[in-house]
Amino acid sequence: MTNHDLERMMDTSDEWIVTRTGIRERHIASPEEPTSVLGWRAAQAALADAGLEMDAIDFIVVATNTGDTVFPSTACRVQSQLTQRPVPSVDVQAGCTGWIYGIAMASAMIESGTFRRILVIAADKLSSITDYQDRTTAVLFGDAAGAIVLEGRQQAEHGVLASFLQADGSGGDLLSMPAGGSLLPATHQTVDERLHYLKMNGNDVFRFAVKAMPEAIEEGLRRAGLGVDQIDLLVPHQANQRIIDAAMRRFHLDPSRVTNNIARYGNTSVATIPVALWEARQEGRVKPGDVVVLVAFGAGLTWGSNVIRWGA
Ligand code: UT7
Repeated sequence: MTNHDLERMMDTSDEWIVTRTGIRERHIASPEEPTSVLGWRAAQAALADAGLEMDAIDFIVVATNTGDTVFPSTACRVQSQLTQRPVPSVDVQAGCTGWIYGIAMASAMIESGTFRRILVIAADKLSSITDYQDRTTAVLFGDAAGAIVLEGRQQAEHGVLASFLQADGSGGDLLSMPAGGSLLPATHQTVDERLHYLKMNGNDVFRFAVKAMPEAIEEGLRRAGLGVDQIDLLVPHQANQRIIDAAMRRFHLDPSRVTNNIARYGNTSVATIPVALWEARQEGRVKPGDVVVLVAFGAGLTWGSNVIRWGA
């Protein structure tokens, strides 16, 4: 869906969207593709890339904010699409920071010896909760999924060196889907009032993001015992080009050290980072031994980072 498609649906312009956000197009999944299907496809691609079968996987984490249903979890749905063998599976919901939380939790479970190989999936179908009558949010979001296999190895010098996770629920109302949960169960009134769509105070979230991103980068690096000059590749959540630019300016990072694909996908919530990471790998921008910093912020409010020494 391009900006020009949106121009035909609402009072907006390609010029406004590009200048204010950097977005030119986003992808919209079909009605036959709920979040679990997007996640399942990403999981299959990650397994093929790792040269592994599902038999090798001990645990599945799905980061999402747009699960197929309130319950059962999307992770259980993905598990049953991937294999007939029971595998422990759980959803992680942490706004757009869900991928960062998922990686941090999975790597901690591997380090504790609980599991050896964990499939971490990020999938969101934001088009299912986007109000295409609200131009302040409709132009921002798209659908996507990504996945990674994390494996524990003895004496590895590669892997997740450190993570920083943070949350402040007092800002919860700045970005939420108000109805459909136990607080406001679905009624005719909630539907009439369009409360089953994502609502956002964009200006306040913007202000929060330009503070949260640098804090998460600095704190993740501090925990890993590294400095900003040691970052080989920064993979920031793709929410707004201006937020990414602010982080690059703050740390004097050259664009060659920062992934940027917001123009082509928009904000795909949990999936922005794995999609950008996958593209960076395809383009040969991540090499074994590189320090890769993943950083995100989102609903909750939540924010965080993973600092990784890239493996093979
Ligand atoms: O991953 C989740 C986190 N979410 C985010 O990171 C979003 C963070 N926030 C943002 O990215 C920005 O605040 C937005 C892109 C949402 C909005 O950009 P902005 O520069 O903060 O614009 P604004 O909300 O201050 O609106 C400026 C003007 C307003 O008109 P008036 O009142 O100045 O006449 C809006 O009504 O732009 C108008 N506007 C639009 N015009 C054309 C708002 N949306 C649109 C639109 N097309 N789509």
